[in-house]
Parts: sequence; C-alpha cells; structure tokens
Amino acid sequence: MHSSLPFMTKSVGDNVSLILLNDFKLQWKAIREDFLQSVDRVGESGYLILGSEVQLFESDLSRYWGLNYAVGCASGLDAIEIGLRTLNLKLGEKVITTPLSAFATTLAILRAGGIPVFCDVDDSGLLDLELVENILFENQDIKFLLPVHLYGQALNLKKLQRLKEVYSLNILEDCAQAIGSKSFGKPTGSVGQVAATSFYPTKNLGCYGDGGALLTNTKEIADAAKCIRDYGQTQKYTHSVFGLNSRLDELQAAVLRTALLPRLAEWSETRKQIAAYYQKYISSSHIKLLPTPEGTESSWHLFPIEVISHRENLMNYLRNSNISSGIHYPGLIPDQPIFNTESSQYRFEIKTELTRAHRFTRTQLSLPIHPFLKEEEIRKIVNVCNSWKP
Ligand SMILES: Cc1ncc(COP(=O)(O)O)c(C=O)c1O
Repeated sequence: MHSSLPFMTKSVGDNVSLILLNDFKLQWKAIREDFLQSVDRVGESGYLILGSEVQLFESDLSRYWGLNYAVGCASGLDAIEIGLRTLNLKLGEKVITTPLSAFATTLAILRAGGIPVFCDVDDSGLLDLELVENILFENQDIKFLLPVHLYGQALNLKKLQRLKEVYSLNILEDCAQAIGSKSFGKPTGSVGQVAATSFYPTKNLGCYGDGGALLTNTKEIADAAKCIRDYGQTQKYTHSVFGLNSRLDELQAAVLRTALLPRLAEWSETRKQIAAYYQKYISSSHIKLLPTPEGTESSWHLFPIEVISHRENLMNYLRNSNISSGIHYPGLIPDQPIFNTESSQYRFEIKTELTRAHRFTRTQLSLPIHPFLKEEEIRKIVNVCNSWKP
C-alpha cells in the first residue's frame, strides 16, 4: 500500500469526473472572496492603467522573487521582447536559445529583430550548456543567450554564471514556467541581466487573462523596460525609443497581489509534495522519469515523464480512466511552418544536431500536478501509469 499523503484532506469530490491539467473552477472557489475584493478596490480607486496596484504588485513580486525590480507587462512574450530591447539587441544579432519551448520564446527574439540560433537540450529537456559553450567558443561574435527553465526545472546557474563571465554574455532567462525554482539555492532569473515571466492562467502564478513581468537587479534596465512598455515615452508625449503598448492592467495586478501571490508558496509546496509522491511510486519499465539537474529545486510547473514507446496509447489509456495529460511540445520551434515556407523572411540557425529535443517531441508527456488535486486522484494517476502496458 502507498503511504498516505498527509498534506491533503480526504476528497469530497466525484470519483468519475475528469482529472484536469489545471482546475480553474477549484481555484476560483479558493480565491473568490479575495478576487472580488481586489476588483472592488480597483473600481473604487478610479485608476485602471499604471496606478498604485501595479506598483504595489511589482514591489511584492520583486521581494518574493529576491530580485531588486519587477516591471509588469501585458504578457510573457512581451516581457521577453522588452527585456531583449533593454539589453540593446541589435537588428540581425544572434541569440542562442532552445528548440524545445513555447513558441513565444523564439517569437520574442524575432520581434526584437534577432536571429534565433538553436542548440540541443539535455536529458532534462533544458538547453545543453556544454553544447552552448562549444557554440560560444567557435562563434565569439554571439553575445546573447536566452535559456528557458522548462517545466519548472532550473538550469545549472553556476554553469550559466560561468558562461556569462567567460563570454561576456547578455543573458535573458525565460522563467515563464519557473517562478520559485532554484539552483544551488539561487532563484532562477538571478544570473541573467533580465528574467522574464508569464502570468498566463495555466502558469504557477497565473492571472485571470494575460499578463507577464520582467525582473532585474539593475535600475537602468527596469527604467528602460517601463519606458518601452508605455510607447517608449520618456515623458508624456515624448517618445524616445521604440516602444509597445504592454502595460499590466490594474485589475490583473490587484488580483495577482491580493488573491494569488499570497497563496503561491502554499500551492508550490503542494506541487512539490505531489511530485515527490510521483517520483516515489511511479515505477513502470515503460515510463522514464526525467532527471532533476544537480543542486536544483523545481517549481513543478509540469510533471513531465518520457514514455519509451506508444505515447498516444498511454494518453488514451489515461483518458479512458478520466485523466488528462499533455504534450510539451509536439514539435520543435525550428520545424514550425513560419521558418519553413519558401517565402519565409525569418532567419534562424541550427548549430547542433537536435537529437534529444526531437526525442522529447516523441516521448514527453505531462501528468496533472496542480495544487487542487485530491489525494485519491494522485493515487489513481500513479496506479493507472503503473498498470499500463504499451
Ligand atoms: C517558456 C515560456 N515562455 C514564454 C511564454 C509566453 O508567455 P505568454 O503566454 O504570457 O505570452 C510561455 C507561456 O506560454 C512559456 O511557457
């Protein structure tokens, strides 16, 4: 018998309902009162854009994260683009990145005028920093690196710091999936000059619509980002740099600050305990658990496994037991049609074989790990995985 899960109360739920990857209805029940009070506060204030709610949330977020400044933006995609612009990425400049991520990571490079340079991932699905070093050694003109802390797993920040120093790199860490992840005790996002994150609803800190933020320890970068998110204005009606309209709404900021951020530590702890349970009890010769990189703590945005063969078959088997699962991601970024039509105007480079990244597109599967899972649902997920035969 499995040991019990002391962190959870016994279910009062319906055994046959579908186990979701994210359960927004249960989240709503948990936050409803604080959410409604936040909305009321904004309505009463009469300020809807760039008022005190955004400022207060930015200061709470930067404190939570352990970085000096946070700048709210309209999305994670925008936070990455704005971050690259604050680092003065020039038109046609190359940026090393991963082929295995949300497309937004690369789209931000394109929008900022850069050329993505793809490199393979390691066995955790993260950009392989040894291969990155080879590329940097052979291409000393490349000065930008955009790694992604995918699935909530942190890259080795000691290695990242070394690469930054040896090759004088501008690093933007994509932390959209990694709020609260750590490497050797340091938060993800603390080595690069800029960190970017997303508040897309499925994220560990997901708002009720779109939102994102850029974080940094450097005041000049934070000031430049505030200018870019607001049409590039340095003063009212004075437009000094190329800007966007990418402001985080007062409403989203208010909800994030009072209904969501205060619950994040507890939700993260629950994710961690679910992950530990899966790691202990999923034992099938047909399923491989991903290695956690040395010295790191994942935020467990997702619980990725590798299915040695017949992944679709396991997905159907889970589905027939009312368990949802997801694929992150079914294709690689450089294989997307935008890069591969004859008339494509978007340049990119592939500097290594993408063997492991391709393997992930065939084998990776994400199991539910949201903080509202019930004890018997977690047990069921383990039992169904263990009983599956390809
Ligand atoms: C790794 C990664 N980067 C960037 C983004 C973009 O964030 P957003 O959807 O808020 O634009 C996402 C979210 O989908 C993501 O998962």
